[in-house]
Amino acid sequence: MGLHIESMRVALGGNVVLRDVSISLPQGDTVAVVGCNGAGKTTLLRSIMGLVKPVSGRLLLDGRNIGEEPAYLRAAAGFGYAPEDRVIFPALTVAQNIALPCDVQGVSRREIARRAEAVLAAMPQLKPMLQRSGAALSGGQGKMVALARALMVGTRYVLLDEPFQGLAPVLARQYGDALRALRESHPQLCVVITESNASLLDGVQSLTLFIERGYVTADRASAGHRREISGEGE
Ligand SMILES: Nc1ncnc2c1ncn2[C@@H]1O[C@H](COP(=O)(O)OP(=O)(O)OP(=O)(O)O)[C@@H](O)[C@H]1O
Ligand SMILES: [Mg+2]
Repeated sequence: MGLHIESMRVALGGNVVLRDVSISLPQGDTVAVVGCNGAGKTTLLRSIMGLVKPVSGRLLLDGRNIGEEPAYLRAAAGFGYAPEDRVIFPALTVAQNIALPCDVQGVSRREIARRAEAVLAAMPQLKPMLQRSGAALSGGQGKMVALARALMVGTRYVLLDEPFQGLAPVLARQYGDALRALRESHPQLCVVITESNASLLDGVQSLTLFIERGYVTADRASAGHRREISGEGE
């Protein structure tokens, strides 16, 4: 069960960006992906979302190779994604922005209301903003809305690209609190967070993956040791 990436290799513009990455993303973990600028963090998330086609390797979800499936099926498979350049639609209200990917998928009104209630329980600071225009949000508030939107479809996996980057300390703390609240309310959810500056993460993760020169290595916080899980050593 869960998502297993097997020997995934990704090339962009003729350069190999990810080399034979083999990682497991178990349900219920908060996984940090840490690496410097240009290390391949965004490429890893985009590959999982099907937005980049790997040269080789498999993406197994509960044993099914979703790497063969088009990107638009990821939402139905329970994957939510908040890109670095979160897009908030200014002509829509915050509530409409949050519900948008569910609307596109044809999720029923009743189910949308049920999911929104669970998301807002973890992010109560969004409640007073729901009827506000998307145009009236600060950059940090926009990140909160982008997280809520990713959670509406990401019932199994939520991929967040550098969410802490540029957040004021107060908002960063709220964001970390929301992620911790999600652990309680959505125990099966796997949250993947990229960051170039690991100190911004506030210890929210249970597993850390390091990306360096296209290789990915893992460090499980509770185990307290660094374990090589991919690359030429295996
Ligand atoms: N469309 C593209 N064509 C060619 N090379 C690309 C393309 N997109 C990214 N790259 C290269 O792939 C490498 C990884 O890029 P990626 O955006 O995944 O890094 P990142 O870890 O997300 O960096 P950052 O912290 O700056 O967001 C970089 O060397 C980058 O120059
Ligand atoms: Mg990036």
